[in-house]
Amino acid sequence: MDFQLTEEQLAVQAAARDFAQSELWAGVIERDEHQKFPAEQVKKMGELGFLGMMVSPEYGGGGMDTVSYVLAMEEISKVDASCSVIMSVNNSLVCWGLEKYGTEEQKRKYLPGLTSGEIIGAFALSEPEAGSDATSQRTTAEDKGDYYLLNGTKNWITNGTTASVYLVVAQTNPELKHRGINVLIVEKGMEGFVQGPKENKLGIRGSDTCSLLFNDVKVPKENRIGEDGFGFKFAMQVLAGGRIGIAAQALGIASGSYELALKYSKERKAFGVPISQHQAIQFKLADMATNIDAARLLCLQAAADKDAHRDYAKSGAMAKLFASKTAMEASVEAVQIHGGYGFVKEYHVERLMRDAKITQIYEGTSEIQKIVISREILK
Ligand code: CAA
Repeated sequence: MDFQLTEEQLAVQAAARDFAQSELWAGVIERDEHQKFPAEQVKKMGELGFLGMMVSPEYGGGGMDTVSYVLAMEEISKVDASCSVIMSVNNSLVCWGLEKYGTEEQKRKYLPGLTSGEIIGAFALSEPEAGSDATSQRTTAEDKGDYYLLNGTKNWITNGTTASVYLVVAQTNPELKHRGINVLIVEKGMEGFVQGPKENKLGIRGSDTCSLLFNDVKVPKENRIGEDGFGFKFAMQVLAGGRIGIAAQALGIASGSYELALKYSKERKAFGVPISQHQAIQFKLADMATNIDAARLLCLQAAADKDAHRDYAKSGAMAKLFASKTAMEASVEAVQIHGGYGFVKEYHVERLMRDAKITQIYEGTSEIQKIVISREILK
C-alpha cells in the first residue's frame, strides 16, 4: 500500500499550515475568550480556496480531492477549531451536497459565493426533539403548489447567524416518514425566517451556533434539492462526508495538543532535567503519538474511500469515532503535561481540551457512529 502523499497534496498541507500559523495563531485566544467570529480569517480562507476545496473549478472551487481536504482541516484545526468547523460545514455539508445534488441553476446561483467566502453556508437538521433521531423532523414544509410553507425550529446550527444560505431539512409528507422529508435552500432575509441569539459554548467559541425559527416562510419550489422526498437520504449522504471533515478536525486538535506538549516537555525542567526525560511523560507522549498516527490513517482511509467512489459511511464513522476520542484524550494529557500552566489560557492547551469535546457530539455523537459502524458490519 502506498502511503505517500502527492506533490499537490503536500503543497495544500503546507499552505494550510502556513496560513494557520501566520493568520490564525495570533488572535485565537482573544477570539475564543470573546466568542468573536473570525470574519477576516474566513474571508482569507475563501481567498486561499479553503472554503470550496472539493468543488469543481467551474463553480469557483479548488477541484481538490478529499485527502487534500483532510490535510488542510488537520492543519487549521491544530490552531483554531472554530475556523475549521466553519470550513468543514461550508465544504462538506453545503458545497458538496449542492454540487452533487443541486440543479444547474442552484449550483450557479450559490456555489461561486460559497466557495469564495463571499457568503457562508449552514446545514439545519437538528431540532429541539430531533438530534440523534434525525428521522423525527418536526419542522414542516407544506407543499403549496409553487412554494413550500416552512414552519418550525432548528437547534445548534453552526454558522447560524453569519450564514446567508441554509440547507433546511423539513417534513413534507409525515405519512411517508423519512421518505417524506425534503431539504430546502433558505436564504437569510426571507420573510418569517429569524435567527436566535448566539449560544454561549464550552468550546469552538469563535464559531457562531444558534437556533433558527421559521414562521410561515415561503420557499420557492425551485429551492428544493433533489426529487420530492429525497431530503433524508441527502442529509445522510452529506453527513457521511461531513464526518470525515470532523474526524480531521478532531485529528488536528489531537496533533496540535501533542505538538504543544512535546515542545513544552523539552523546555520545562523538573528534578534537574527536562520533563521529557521522565518516563511518566515519555509514556504519555508515546500513547499520544501512537493514537494520533492511527487516527490519521483512519481519516486518510475514509478520504481515500470517498475519492475512489467506494462506500465511506463506515470508514468515515470509524475515523470520527476514533479521532474524536483521541482528541479528547490527547488534549487532556497535554494539559496534564503542562501542569498548572496547562490550566491557563496563554498555553493554548486548555482551549484545545474544551474544543475537543464537541467532536464527540456534532455530526452524530460517538454512540451514533457506533450505530452506523455496527449496521455496516452486520448487514
Ligand atoms: N447514505 C444514503 N442513505 C442513507 C445513509 C447514507 N449514508 N444512511 C442511511 N440512509 C438511508 C437508509 O437507506 C434509509 O432509507 P430507506 O428506508 O429508504 O432505505 C434511511 O436513510 C433511513 O435509515 P435508517 O433506517 O438507518 O434510519 P434511522 O432512523 O435508524 O437512523 C441514524 C439512522 C444513523 C441514527 C441517523 O438518524 C443519524 O445519522 N442520526 C444522527 C444525525 C446527526 O448526525 N445529527 C447531527 C446534526 S448535523 C451537525 O451537527 C452539523 C453541524 O452543525 C456541525
